[in-house]
Amino acid sequence: MLLRRTAPGVVGRLARGLSGGRPPRDDKFARVTQEDVQYFREALGAGGRLVTDREGLQAFNRDWLGNFEGATSVAVCPTSTQQVSKVLSYCNERCLAVVPQGGNTGLVGGSVPVHDEVVLSTSAMDNIISFDEVSGILNCQSGCILQALDTYLAERGHTMPLDLGAKGSCQIGGNVSTNAGGVRLLRYGSLHGSVLGLEVVLANGEVLDLWQSLRKDNTGYDLKQLFIGAEGTLGIVTGMSLLCPARPTSVQVSFLSCKSFPDVLHIFRLAKQHLGEVLSAVEFLDRESLVTALEHMPGIRNPLPDGTSPFYMLVETSGSSETHDKNKVEEFLAEVMSAGLLVDGALAQDTSQASNMWRVREGVTEALVRRGKVYKYDVSLPLAEMYALVEEMRERLPGDSIRVVGYGHVGDGNLHLNISDARGKERQEVREAIEPFVYEWTRERRGSISAEHGLGLMKAECIRYSKPEAAVRIMGAVKKMLDPKGILNPYKVLPRDVVHEGC
Ligand code: FAD
Ligand code: MLT
Ligand code: ZN
Repeated sequence: MLLRRTAPGVVGRLARGLSGGRPPRDDKFARVTQEDVQYFREALGAGGRLVTDREGLQAFNRDWLGNFEGATSVAVCPTSTQQVSKVLSYCNERCLAVVPQGGNTGLVGGSVPVHDEVVLSTSAMDNIISFDEVSGILNCQSGCILQALDTYLAERGHTMPLDLGAKGSCQIGGNVSTNAGGVRLLRYGSLHGSVLGLEVVLANGEVLDLWQSLRKDNTGYDLKQLFIGAEGTLGIVTGMSLLCPARPTSVQVSFLSCKSFPDVLHIFRLAKQHLGEVLSAVEFLDRESLVTALEHMPGIRNPLPDGTSPFYMLVETSGSSETHDKNKVEEFLAEVMSAGLLVDGALAQDTSQASNMWRVREGVTEALVRRGKVYKYDVSLPLAEMYALVEEMRERLPGDSIRVVGYGHVGDGNLHLNISDARGKERQEVREAIEPFVYEWTRERRGSISAEHGLGLMKAECIRYSKPEAAVRIMGAVKKMLDPKGILNPYKVLPRDVVHEGC
């Protein structure tokens, strides 16, 4: 379970990681006054929470990675859609900029203020409204923590259709707003499919009720899709309906090592062939990732005696018959061995071994932060070329303190390229050796510069590496239509030149 990290002081470092530097404050936005704070207090009434003290605001101002830090003077935590509506309608009227915030585990600087924007946190909107055990449809508010929802569903024989390392802190509204991928996308698909309905409060306070619980609905444009992955720039998601699968009763996890990335891909192909309908995750990590996790995450053990192979994989099946699933996994492993692909492998014998294997994979993210400064990239690439980016980056970035690390959701073509620098501080020469090279390399292969983390503040100016001009222009027009004054999460997602004036 991931707990909220308290990052060291980072003021002054936040301009880094942004192509073009931190955007200047847009002076069309009003500054928060005592009258505004008084209004928010009244709008929240007894239930909600208002944070205005410096210490309390730190957690709202600073992102999980410690790369970005804003300077809000107020965080508003409503409990109901009506309160969100009141607050937004007021901010729109006053031209106060607003940052929606969920669990604040985002990795691209989208969830924290850039300057003095009001933080609207959904953390007090954590009610589960209903669950239908026949259809598997869950209705809840957006501030529910992902892990809490999964625990609730486990008691009812179901599971959440997504899972990620930040599950102990991230909120379902944040997941929807980033269109989070995670480790089971391979099995359950993206949130564009699992979200059946949404309730969204628009910038002017209007409540857009798209909160249906239907599997099928072809009446006109599917507007809810616009808000899935909009990173809080088009509206605030307040409630939703989600399709949740039956919980698998048999979960088999194996951890393998192999000699090359082509072998990783070959094993993936065999996993699809042999495990087909029960395959639920195919993850990979390189030796540098494994070593970093083992060095910096106490309590994690290497599942294999082999710690020198260049590549490791975690393959998971989720099904309903233990004997059947175990047989299948054994056949798959035998095939992998007879093809000469395996250096070493282990099949978890109990849930504790399985969870240790998952902690090795999921622990890499936090281990990297503990090691020092991390330059984080999240790309979609054609599988055959995916790891070449890590190798090229190693050639560009020699140096004792630098470790170039590659891991990710190989089953989804999603590479997490991380450059870790034990020297701990942002260095311009390192950043310049990485960017724009990594974005150009990705564009040349028609990849995506953000597979699952979003654009946030970090990559707002980089959208054109992955989207054509016409698409960027249409996005600007959608933003203008839904948020004419531009108060929702300014400086994020869209490049400055397509954002309209507003206010
Ligand atoms: P926040 O970080 O608070 O916000 C993220 C964005 O959504 C911001 O732009 C914010 O303004 C907006 N937002 C939040 N709530 C709302 C709302 N209710 N309405 C409108 N906008 C809103 N991501 C993956 O995709 N896959 C992974 O496997 C993965 N693993 C991770 C592992 C770790 C250890 C960590 C720290 C992060 C990981 N992430 C991963 C990134 C992050 O957890 C996800 O992006 C997650 O979905 C963010 O949820 P959150 O509630 O923390 O949102
Ligand atoms: C993961 O898959 O571990 C997450 O997306 C976080 C990361 O990229 O480190
Ligand atoms: Zn990921």
